[in-house]
Amino acid sequence: MHWQSVLLVSGVLAAAVNAQPRPRTNTDESQVPPYTLPDPLVCADGTPVTRAAVWETKRRPELLRLFEEQVYGRSPDRPAAMTFEVTSVDARALDGLATRKEITLWFTGRPDGPSMNLLLYVSNGVKGRVPAFLGLNFAGNHAIHTDPGIRLSERWMPARFGDCVVNNRATEACRGLNASRWPVEMILRRGYALVTAYYGDLEPDFEAGWKLGVRGAFKPADGAAEFPPDAWGAIGAWSWGLSRALDYLETDRAVDARRVAVIGHSRLGKTALWTGARDPRFALVIANNSGEGGAALARRWFGETTADLNRRFPHWFCGNFKQYSNNETALPVDQHELIALVAPRPVYVASAADDSWADPRGEFLAALNAEPVYRLYDRPGLNASDQSPLHQSIGQFIGYHIRAGKHGLTATDWAYYLDFADRHFQR
Ligand code: GCU
Repeated sequence: MHWQSVLLVSGVLAAAVNAQPRPRTNTDESQVPPYTLPDPLVCADGTPVTRAAVWETKRRPELLRLFEEQVYGRSPDRPAAMTFEVTSVDARALDGLATRKEITLWFTGRPDGPSMNLLLYVSNGVKGRVPAFLGLNFAGNHAIHTDPGIRLSERWMPARFGDCVVNNRATEACRGLNASRWPVEMILRRGYALVTAYYGDLEPDFEAGWKLGVRGAFKPADGAAEFPPDAWGAIGAWSWGLSRALDYLETDRAVDARRVAVIGHSRLGKTALWTGARDPRFALVIANNSGEGGAALARRWFGETTADLNRRFPHWFCGNFKQYSNNETALPVDQHELIALVAPRPVYVASAADDSWADPRGEFLAALNAEPVYRLYDRPGLNASDQSPLHQSIGQFIGYHIRAGKHGLTATDWAYYLDFADRHFQR
């Protein structure tokens, strides 16, 4: 036997000995056990919610607190000392189509403190303040477009992005790496501004990444090594950054801060939903292929599970969330209630047919089960009783589509989001 195979075999044995028994991944619809969802319209003390006023004053705050304490953790408020610095403006970007602006948010108001670099494109020749899409990106602002004027991120980048990353830093070859996810010209031509920042500015996405991000910077200096079990996780940190980006947009006269849609894909789709739930200033919320911990129901055993999340990404959620691995029925909430926290604002959930890990049907069912809360406001939700056909965008205040293909954010998805935003932003 070759020595490499010996190592491999012994590695497998070691893994087998250490492995916790855990259920397999279920991707068979006929194997989904029955489950009962918590009722968004019944308060913890049993009070039924029959009016929007009761939802707003009692049930909504209660649910928000439960998601904070048990799932995503508490995020701090806006730092009083935060400052904004416009670092570049180019009025003739993208062959004159748009003005490109870059802004650094200094979270402590100090250049040696944590910061985030925002990239903002606004179409030229549009009068008045424009609505905007705001979303974090996975690979740096320079990766959303080949535009040579975008500042190359100097932050930590994962090596898995490929050869363009050298010593965990982006090189020029990373420019445009994720351009297929960001149809910038299409968004601008439809009259929207596009605003983005690298999620790694807020926290690099690995277990000890908090030491390099805002969670480390804002940790109370009490010497405690551990975060309290209800303190923010990485999703909380990314979400907090989106709120800070909106703080900036409120000061920018090119953008209408009352018409900002927050959008995210996958782990950043989880982040977008949590942001829309936490921060009512976001006028519209879009969760693309957000899966487990996002739009997908936790109680439905299909695709990724709470245990998978906690094992592979222990830093994303708060400490309390760990107790729900293989124990989802103990969760005091489920994800339809996260979607409902966006009410009465419009929310959009989207799935991809081959994305079984994210449980497309579980995403659809969560959207469907958020409807009773929208009904309190006389706002129709999906207008559907079962999963919609491929490539059909359904719903009024809760939007949904499932497209063919794999996990991803595509121009097809964006086309539906732009139509949905057009309807709600009444342009
Ligand atoms: C993994 C993870 C998902 C997540 C996805 C992503 O697949 O298990 O929960 O949504 O990564 O962010 O791309």
